[in-house]
Amino acid sequence: MPPLLKMENISIVFGGLTAVESISFEVEKGRIVSLIGPNGAGKSTVFNIISGIYSPTSGSVYFLEKDITGDRAYKITGYGIARTFQNIRLFKNLTVADNVRIGCHSRSRAGFMGAVLRAGRVKGEERGITDRAKESLAVVGLADKSEDLAKNLSYGDQRKLEIARALASSPELLLLDEPAAGMNAGEKQGLMEMIKAISHMGVTILLVEHDMKFVMGISDHIIVLDYGQIIASGTPEEVQNDPVVIEAYLGKEAD
Ligand SMILES: Nc1ncnc2c1ncn2[C@@H]1O[C@H](COP(=O)(O)OP(=O)(O)O)[C@@H](O)[C@H]1O
Ligand SMILES: [Mg+2]
Repeated sequence: MPPLLKMENISIVFGGLTAVESISFEVEKGRIVSLIGPNGAGKSTVFNIISGIYSPTSGSVYFLEKDITGDRAYKITGYGIARTFQNIRLFKNLTVADNVRIGCHSRSRAGFMGAVLRAGRVKGEERGITDRAKESLAVVGLADKSEDLAKNLSYGDQRKLEIARALASSPELLLLDEPAAGMNAGEKQGLMEMIKAISHMGVTILLVEHDMKFVMGISDHIIVLDYGQIIASGTPEEVQNDPVVIEAYLGKEAD
């Protein structure tokens, strides 16, 4: 089985700054893989490269062996890669359900022309979208809040709504950028169970998260970035006991 995602010698330079330097890693289907490292290490930049927001300066991204390097974000969503953002991006004045329905459209076959030319099929698709939105909301436990405005949700629920929206595009690979940020201990525990449930549904997860207990408790594999380079990679146990990691990352965190 080829890896679901393969990053090969990826670098990106902003102005004079090399934010990500020649990194290579693979994500196998069905795994929960975490990307950790100090602030500014390049984690979100890696997500932006995978999801088509940035085009790398050099290197290649493969999704199921297809070279997707530099493809536009909407195309990447269409291939089956969805993401959430480190800073919540919701339509605050739309309902919870409508925020999720927007996610469904990213991967639906009906584009603008489809809406004009194939009205019948589009109607069927609209029903499909409503069903998918409902399913996604049920997965994150927000089914009973579907008619609330996004802005009226608690912070933790807004983060869950972002996950629901990403799920609504039926991704094979889900990128989560600091999903537990700002959550209390109880919410984090719930989120961990939710991510495991999503994983059991067959969705492969790539996660950026600062909470070490969270990362160690959920990951099959961990990749450690520092100054744009991979300094360690392994199981939670291996990474936790790696002196290089303790020095570069856990050491800084303790400061
Ligand atoms: N669009 C951009 N323009 C210039 N510099 C950027 C841009 N995006 C990220 N960077 C820089 O790249 C580095 C890595 O940032 P980022 O990936 O956000 O780190 P992390 O998510 O690990 O905290 C930082 O030095 C950041 O300032
Ligand atoms: Mg970041």
